[in-house]
Amino acid sequence: MRSETCWALLIVGVAGSAADRAAAVKQAFQLSWDAYYEHAFPHDQLKPISQSGDDSYGGWGATALDGLDTAIVMGNQVVVNQILDYVPTIDFSSCNQSSVSMFETTIRYLGGLLSAYDLLNGPAANLVNETSKVTNLLTQAASLADNLKVAFTSETGMPYNGIDIQNQTIVGEPTNGLAAIGSLVLEWTRLADLTGNAEYGNLSQKAAEYLFNPQPSWVSPWPGMVPDNLNISTGEFISDSISWDGGSDSYYEYLIKSYIYSPSRFSSYRDQWEEAVNSTIQNLMQNTTTGSGQNLTYVGTWNNGTFSATMGHLVSFIGGNFLLGGSVLQRQDLIDYGLALTEGWYAAYNSSATKIGPGALSWNATAAGDNGQTDTYDELGFYYTASSYMLRPETLESYYYAYRITGDEKYRDWSWEAFVGINSTCWTGSGYAEINNVDNTTQGGGFNDLQDSFLLAEVWKYAYLIQADDAEWQVSSNGTNSFVFNTEAHPIRVSGN
Ligand SMILES: *[C@@H]1O[C@H](CO)[C@@H](O)[C@H](O)[C@H]1NC(C)=O
Ligand SMILES: *[C@@H]1O[C@H](CO)[C@@H](O)[C@H](O)[C@H]1NC(C)=O
Ligand SMILES: *[C@@H]1O[C@H](CO)[C@@H](O)[C@H](O)[C@H]1NC(C)=O
Ligand SMILES: *[C@@H]1O[C@H](CO)[C@@H](O)[C@H](O)[C@H]1NC(C)=O
Ligand SMILES: *[C@@H]1O[C@H](CO)[C@@H](O)[C@H](O)[C@H]1NC(C)=O
Ligand SMILES: *[C@@H]1O[C@H](CO)[C@@H](O)[C@H](O)[C@H]1NC(C)=O
Ligand SMILES: *[C@@H]1O[C@H](CO)[C@@H](O)[C@H](O)[C@H]1NC(C)=O
Ligand SMILES: *[C@@H]1O[C@H](CO)[C@@H](O)[C@H](O)[C@H]1NC(C)=O
Ligand SMILES: *[C@@H]1O[C@H](CO)[C@@H](O)[C@H](O)[C@H]1NC(C)=O
Ligand SMILES: *[C@@H]1O[C@H](CO)[C@@H](O)[C@H](O)[C@H]1NC(C)=O
Ligand SMILES: *[C@@H]1O[C@H](CO)[C@@H](O)[C@H](O)[C@H]1NC(C)=O
Ligand SMILES: *[C@@H]1O[C@H](CO)[C@@H](O)[C@H](O)[C@H]1NC(C)=O
Repeated sequence: MRSETCWALLIVGVAGSAADRAAAVKQAFQLSWDAYYEHAFPHDQLKPISQSGDDSYGGWGATALDGLDTAIVMGNQVVVNQILDYVPTIDFSSCNQSSVSMFETTIRYLGGLLSAYDLLNGPAANLVNETSKVTNLLTQAASLADNLKVAFTSETGMPYNGIDIQNQTIVGEPTNGLAAIGSLVLEWTRLADLTGNAEYGNLSQKAAEYLFNPQPSWVSPWPGMVPDNLNISTGEFISDSISWDGGSDSYYEYLIKSYIYSPSRFSSYRDQWEEAVNSTIQNLMQNTTTGSGQNLTYVGTWNNGTFSATMGHLVSFIGGNFLLGGSVLQRQDLIDYGLALTEGWYAAYNSSATKIGPGALSWNATAAGDNGQTDTYDELGFYYTASSYMLRPETLESYYYAYRITGDEKYRDWSWEAFVGINSTCWTGSGYAEINNVDNTTQGGGFNDLQDSFLLAEVWKYAYLIQADDAEWQVSSNGTNSFVFNTEAHPIRVSGN
């Protein structure tokens, strides 16, 4: 009896079939949802230590709408219906925050509503009987967009990021970031296509396409790559920082994803993406070598003419984005680079005591020495420049694409190792929290009192889907996809040609 129990634990806890692993991720999703529902709903996010709510995203229940499509792909009918009952009660014209982010609201709420609509109208239709519950999703998506579109009233058509919803005014200086301007096209174009109102798509496309011809032209040192901040009144860039890091990341990500959404409408976006990845390979990608002689591949940043050999956790989605683009454009070189970049972040995850990767790392030997990290650098080929983990999905996202596109089981194992680390280290007893130190297995060196909505939208979704069976919403191995995931991991049905 005893040895059988141990054997069973060993199978589920250490190795486990893909089905057992998928079930374990579903349980973690349920635990996160239950804690949020009990202590924070309908606030935006759970504060798991103080067991209260956080409202940083308009106060319309961000975790519920971010988590809805994860509940759908997991087939969690109870949670799906809890959220669907809530959706029509939201009033997107009412908000007591003086500034709501156009970017965050688009990727979390608009993406979540449209994805749930596409899934429940299609491959997950069996989860809901009343069609009104599904049509409400689209009605609310349009209502949200109508309350946000005041953001596009700058001279150039590029959006402001801050909106006072209640007053329908824009907030703050006329400056905005590359990602906030350039990653609205998927959601707003999908909304246009579903409602028949082309204006939504036009607004987002005009903004994104402004970035294709940067002014002054010298701000772009390499084809396809531009700095991370603009004056949206004059259209001039006001920064000299070029990277795939936060603030820029999803601009590049959406170029290829827009093309996947509609190859005929967005072929110029594909060209921009190919230029950007070619430039990235040539100018920002580097190898570092471990003590045992293995090469690790990373992507650095460019500031005012100076290369910096650092990479943040946020950038670790890049392996997945290269893999997706490589599969769609049939470029094996991009698939190979994508796998090398994914491997680089596995090395980072595998190097910590919790098996969770750091907030940022550097492969600069001189800087390692200045920080007393030479031994670590010599052994690993890098050292940590930030040790926190903020429940972020990007590395799991790259594992997901690597598995779906190559079918190599090792990526499922890597994802499972990270899941087990996150599930045990970040668990507070009532939901999950961000942690301070990935090298400390005791509560990750201390919790930060927040369960981000993207834990439910992205971390659990990628950790689940990599172990789950084939389905229409899964990324395909051959570059022909029925759905494309927005930057918050919301799968949106492609429009095709
Ligand atoms: C602001 O909105 C939140 C969420 O709807 C609500 O709980 C809170 O009472 C409101 N605060 C004020 C001052 O109206
Ligand atoms: C709307 O604007 C008025 C006048 O500027 C201001 O007093 C009020 O606080 C604003 N409302 C909100 C919700 O910010
Ligand atoms: C939908 O209706 C069928 C037949 O009445 C029932 O078996 C099923 O449980 C219902 N599903 C939901 C999600 O309510
Ligand atoms: C959207 O853009 C297309 C193409 O430029 C144009 O034909 C159409 O009139 C626009 N529609 C709206 C509602 O802005
Ligand atoms: C990118 O590089 C590939 C391989 O070197 C080349 O075939 C392709 O034409 C390049 N694309 C662009 C847009 O520069
Ligand atoms: C690392 O890259 C170099 C080329 O720079 C190559 O010669 C070497 O074989 C690679 N090492 C491994 C272990 O793949
Ligand atoms: C980087 O590492 C990869 C994987 O080992 C190797 O194929 C490639 O040649 C290396 N590139 C350079 C410039 O060292
Ligand atoms: C960028 O570098 C130039 C000289 O190379 C310098 O004059 C300028 O002040 C720098 N700009 C910033 C923002 O650091
Ligand atoms: C490496 O670190 C040194 C010392 O901090 C710095 O001067 C140099 O610019 C860095 N180089 C790169 C490529 O990051
Ligand atoms: C995940 O964490 C929960 C909460 O501590 C626990 O009940 C569950 O067994 C864990 N799952 C795995 C696979 O370790
Ligand atoms: C690990 O974190 C715990 C909880 O914050 C703390 O008490 C402990 O001192 C830390 N251990 C080390 C080795 O830093
Ligand atoms: C590509 O794979 C999908 C499933 O992921 C399949 O439905 C489709 O038929 C395949 N297309 C080709 C051309 O093989």
